[in-house]
Amino acid sequence: MSSYNVALNFEDGVTRFVTCKAGEKVLDAAFRAKINLPMDCSDGVCGTCKCRAESGRYDLGDDYIDDALTEDEKDSGLVLTCQMVPQSDCVIAVPASSTVCKTGHSTFAATVTKVEAHNDAAIVLELQVDEAAPVFLPGQYVNIDVPGSGQHRSYSFSSAPGEAAISFLIKKIPGGVMSTWLESAQPGAKVELSGPLGSFYLRAVERPLLFLAGGTGLAPFLSMLEVLARTNSQQKVHLIYGVTRDLDLVQVEAIEAYVARLPNFTYSTVVADAQSGHPRKGWVTQHMPAESVNDGDVDVYLCGPPPMVDAVRQYFDANGIKPNSFHYEKFTPNVVPRAA
Ligand code: FES
Repeated sequence: MSSYNVALNFEDGVTRFVTCKAGEKVLDAAFRAKINLPMDCSDGVCGTCKCRAESGRYDLGDDYIDDALTEDEKDSGLVLTCQMVPQSDCVIAVPASSTVCKTGHSTFAATVTKVEAHNDAAIVLELQVDEAAPVFLPGQYVNIDVPGSGQHRSYSFSSAPGEAAISFLIKKIPGGVMSTWLESAQPGAKVELSGPLGSFYLRAVERPLLFLAGGTGLAPFLSMLEVLARTNSQQKVHLIYGVTRDLDLVQVEAIEAYVARLPNFTYSTVVADAQSGHPRKGWVTQHMPAESVNDGDVDVYLCGPPPMVDAVRQYFDANGIKPNSFHYEKFTPNVVPRAA
């Protein structure tokens, strides 16, 4: 028997990972990690520890009563953490804030290894984490303290979880606090990070995926694609990457590399600028092949600025497109992302 990683996603966007030893219940593993998940009886009677399992395999046993968890609730993915023994890595949504559970996000230090400008539009920031490689779900973000400013900015990982070398794709904003710092940041500089955070992450992959990226909203998809490639996913994945100007189109070579590594991966790029010479102009919704929505049997992930998110939602509504699931993250520079 093995031990498994369990991601606990709290209502306030904080994620903490705990390790369940072989046969160990989630509530006990969390307690060992000094995380007080909601509980009362710890015996399968009260239902206080009810959470939602978002992915993973597990055994609930038969030592709990129907008042605590009905058959219908069980079938819909609800679990009792005082009974739940993981049989794979799992993700659990906890209906309480991290502070109520006497925890918060982790902080960790890292060293700058590379700052690379891409056109005049974006910056790739690579860091080496000083201690243990951060654990996160592909698609999640961290807060990075901007040295000397007393401020932080939020960025999605563009690298895959479990690596000490981590990377971010950062929109270049003239006068922006992070952009300004990065202009002179050198390898060896130290930064502090806290996280992971956010509910925009790749769920269990059970049907075709449609990824819609706006600008540097590409970052979380690079992390997801890397995870899909490492797990030899055979699932259909179509990415549409939309930007405002030609020069905003960065890291296309990184996307292209996944065509060779993922047998059912396709992508296209779209530029909104009417003056662009790009072969596909306009919005991502104007270049969305019917196959990519697969009659609704598709999980859609969307990360981009608020107008793009709103436009895609309106397009889906207007065209009667009802995907199996729709996960989105709105981001604006200097504002913490909001996910749904
Ligand atoms: Fe009472 Fe789990 S704590 S059912």
